[in-house]
Amino acid sequence: GTPSSAIATGLVDYVLSPAAMPEQLIAYTEGPYLKAAGVAVHEPAISTELTEKVLVLLRSRTGHDFFFYKSNTLRRRIERRMNVHLIDEPVQYLYFLHENPHELDLLFKELLISVTSFFRDPDAWEALGLVLKDLIQSRPDDHTVRAWVPGCATGEEAYSLAMLLRECLDELQRPPSLQIFGTDLDAEAIEAARTGRYPDGIRADVLPRRLEKYFTQDDGTYCIRKEVRDTVIFALQNVIRDPPFTKLDVISCRNLLIYMKSDLQERLLPIFHHALKPDGLLFLGPSETIGSSGHLFETLDKRWKVFRRKESIADLHALPKIPAHVKASDERTMDVAHSGPSVKESRHETTMERVLLQQLAPPSVVVNERGDIIYIHGRTGMYLEPSRGQPRNNILEMAREGLQLELTAAMRQCIASDTEVVCERVRVKTNGEFRTIRLTVAKFHEPETVRGLLLVTFHPMAPDVPEKPEKSTRKRKKTPDAERTEQLQNELQRIQEAYRASVEEMKTLNEELQSNNEELQSSNEELETSKEELESLNEELTTVNAQLQSKLSELSQVNDDMQNLLNSTDIATIFLDTDLNIRRYTAEATRLVTLRPTDVGRPIFELASNLQYEDLAADSHEVLRTLIRKESIVHTVSGASYLMRIVPYRTTENVIDGLVLTFVDIERLIRVTREVEGSGEFFKHIVETVRHPLLVLDQELRIVFVNDVFCATFRTNRDETQGRVVYDLGNGQWDIPELRKLLEDVLPENAALNDYEVKADFPTIGRRKMLLNARRMQRGMTLPAMILLAIEDTTEDRGRTAE
Ligand SMILES: C[S@@+](CC[C@H](N)C(=O)[O-])C[C@H]1O[C@@H](n2cnc3c(N)ncnc32)[C@H](O)[C@@H]1O
Repeated sequence: GTPSSAIATGLVDYVLSPAAMPEQLIAYTEGPYLKAAGVAVHEPAISTELTEKVLVLLRSRTGHDFFFYKSNTLRRRIERRMNVHLIDEPVQYLYFLHENPHELDLLFKELLISVTSFFRDPDAWEALGLVLKDLIQSRPDDHTVRAWVPGCATGEEAYSLAMLLRECLDELQRPPSLQIFGTDLDAEAIEAARTGRYPDGIRADVLPRRLEKYFTQDDGTYCIRKEVRDTVIFALQNVIRDPPFTKLDVISCRNLLIYMKSDLQERLLPIFHHALKPDGLLFLGPSETIGSSGHLFETLDKRWKVFRRKESIADLHALPKIPAHVKASDERTMDVAHSGPSVKESRHETTMERVLLQQLAPPSVVVNERGDIIYIHGRTGMYLEPSRGQPRNNILEMAREGLQLELTAAMRQCIASDTEVVCERVRVKTNGEFRTIRLTVAKFHEPETVRGLLLVTFHPMAPDVPEKPEKSTRKRKKTPDAERTEQLQNELQRIQEAYRASVEEMKTLNEELQSNNEELQSSNEELETSKEELESLNEELTTVNAQLQSKLSELSQVNDDMQNLLNSTDIATIFLDTDLNIRRYTAEATRLVTLRPTDVGRPIFELASNLQYEDLAADSHEVLRTLIRKESIVHTVSGASYLMRIVPYRTTENVIDGLVLTFVDIERLIRVTREVEGSGEFFKHIVETVRHPLLVLDQELRIVFVNDVFCATFRTNRDETQGRVVYDLGNGQWDIPELRKLLEDVLPENAALNDYEVKADFPTIGRRKMLLNARRMQRGMTLPAMILLAIEDTTEDRGRTAE
């Protein structure tokens, strides 16, 4: 049933009887975790140092590293486990982990937060469906659509994608084949995903037409149909550590990045970029972003986080640093090896060389829109120099004096206008001398691999007329034009310096804004994570609540059944606790003891009773002590009689938890007994009065009574006859099959036996001839019927007749 499948998930914190639940739930809600959630500002109770110690233990137990997961998430999950064990002090929990390695497995499971569902955020799936169609239609006919779902938990997301992709493929005349990889860190989740069996509750998430088409029903569960199941391969995989799948059309990685710190997110996104084919789609959770990887992905749906791989060679610089451990036997290893960085790099390099040589021979640099250098052609040292501080690869930061302003403006203009920008006579200061160049910035439109990148070219121009030494200048008298020119040049220089300063300021401001933005984004992610966790907690509470509700309704049903059963037996029953206080009673019991609902909890002896039974207290205590039940007949003041039983009350755990007192009304029994006794006397008198031998037989033809004439005739006595079956009398003279049949018919068919002749040798009186007559005797409604058998000895009559 539901409780056992809940226990089987391994997510259950406590397995308790319904009676023990309230206490545990109250203790849980008063624990540090929920208490902390109730206050607005929550000071982390668990230090970073302690969290790290826990993570080290976790790593040595599971082999998995959670150091790059968001610390707040880690802390909250640790707090939740502390709460489950009602541990207040983090250090105590650390000791607890040392002593109970199994708790590490539970904490590991807790950190994975495997909350999932089919078509989670249905609008997002709708948005993905729209772009998937276009993607699939653009692929060649013989193509295999490949998708990867990292962090697929129990498989719902992978199967959702399989259903959606099938729906897109169904629209095609020659649908390509489909291959989906679902991976997760959690072995149990992967096992569940492989089984493909889901509870009835998925009806809330899956449309009826999909339930019908992609699932079969079995014993209250839904099973994924084989044709869908066969398209998905599930595998254990750590997305951080293991090599990725490659040549993919879609990656659906939802609600996994949200738990990771931003630097880990930034390391994973280039891996996803690398794993996707051109135009491949990346589908993230609603609270996840591509952050600073905008150069790798183009946003297709901002709200529902659908992105397309950008075809840029910029990713050469961000080639995935992971996977770290590549196993030779792994299929994925082969993929990685064949499309490894060196092959790709050299291919791009050749393309670049060709493009640059085709376009221009002068020193040139290929940059992305932010100015990050992708490729350098020719000798550019006269225009660029390494910037101070940490080595950077940005052309704007490396531009020599005089170039930066023009280059920044030209790049901005080129990006905005999408046309080539030419700056004539730009003066660049190199080693104390100024060189004049023509600077051009152009945007690549093709080939595909370099589209969107900028080509910055430095064309050297004829050298300026060298400036005359100051000494000779001073000697010459300046013309007014020269003076004016110098004045203007000075002014221009000042303006340039001011402009540069304000650009610097703006840059700083921009950086600040960017860092604020990042902080905001990370707080936003944190909030979203907390929201997810709260949702998961809420789900857990709802489940517990639903289980409690169902237990309560089961209990109330059982209670009603029991009450009805007890009332229908007409047996007065009183349940007492071990202190002999009333715990529960039946309606019938109120006839013996004056009981009202408010008397529950009161000692039975305080209540007025109709019973004439002084020893009730002593007997009850004795039963509690000896655990031997007690039975006796008790009377009420009005003279009614009851068979009273005092029995120990045993719980299912075999614990004695009180007494059960039952009082069975035996008035009718006594009356019937008296009736039997009375009717017995009546028959006895009749039978004794008749002068023929008479027998009274019961239903089994056993002799209940014989008269004196019978004893005298057959020379026997009552002890030898009464209680025996009639066929066994004497030496079996009465055991005649025909007689047996006739007698056996007398009772059930109300037949009569008339003058049945029996000739036989009797041991004491010799050969005799008898006439038998029998009748059924009914004694009132309650007593069983009997047979009156009269025996007439006709031996002598015959003799007389013969004479
Ligand atoms: C919140 S669930 C999301 C499930 C599903 N993607 C969805 O959105 O419904 C996060 C899943 O990521 C898995 N996970 C966490 N860290 C992982 C890692 N490093 N590699 C692979 N899976 C991971 C967890 O086991 C869990 O099943």
